[in-house]
Amino acid sequence: MARVRLNAYLARAGVASRRGADELIKGGRVTVNGEPGQLNTFVASRDRVEVDGRLAELQPLAYVLLHKPAGVVTTARDPQGRRTVVDLVDHRSRVVPVGRLDVDTTGALLLTNDGELAHTLAHPRYEVEKVYEADVEGDPSDEALEDLRRGVELDDRLTAPVHARRLGPGQVELVLHEGRKHQVKRMLAAVGHPVTSLHRSRYAGLTLEGLEPGAWRELEPFEVARLRS
Ligand code: URA
Repeated sequence: MARVRLNAYLARAGVASRRGADELIKGGRVTVNGEPGQLNTFVASRDRVEVDGRLAELQPLAYVLLHKPAGVVTTARDPQGRRTVVDLVDHRSRVVPVGRLDVDTTGALLLTNDGELAHTLAHPRYEVEKVYEADVEGDPSDEALEDLRRGVELDDRLTAPVHARRLGPGQVELVLHEGRKHQVKRMLAAVGHPVTSLHRSRYAGLTLEGLEPGAWRELEPFEVARLRS
């Protein structure tokens, strides 16, 4: 492992999120080779990092695809105590979701402890492809689909071009490369067809084939390599 910031190391060791790790460091609870760790301390795998005197060891990188069911929140910890996607993934490594699906949205969600890849995939610049299937009120006309393709105004800014097609009466598929908050619901509401149910069938080329709602699997090495590229 190259040298990384102490908070990133602690996150990779499954101790806390990066932000949580900063709190531990500020609280003076982290040592590196016996010396108090600082927010700007960098460490490598040969360094001995301890939290409250206990060794913090790096976990192997893990990549998980979850078929998120409705009714669970996409966060690592919910202040309201609701069930989270992390509760569903009983994995030895502490994996956290990449991006977000609304509590009522179902479908493909990636979780990982690879902070670098998570950051890259979530960055708008890399334009990860996401495919959504929406049930909507009414039956969108060709003009409504065309409006979606051309872009609708959200927060004073047009959405980037999307692929939009009808799957059946009151059912549309949207292929997006952006990831703005509640984007699909807001786009469909903007063309007069509020979403009644939303499912993400594909994320960065990963489909839910063979995964029931609530089930998850590790990615294959070739899938991880593809995400990295
Ligand atoms: N767009 C939404 O509106 N909700 C989601 O959960 C994902 C995309």
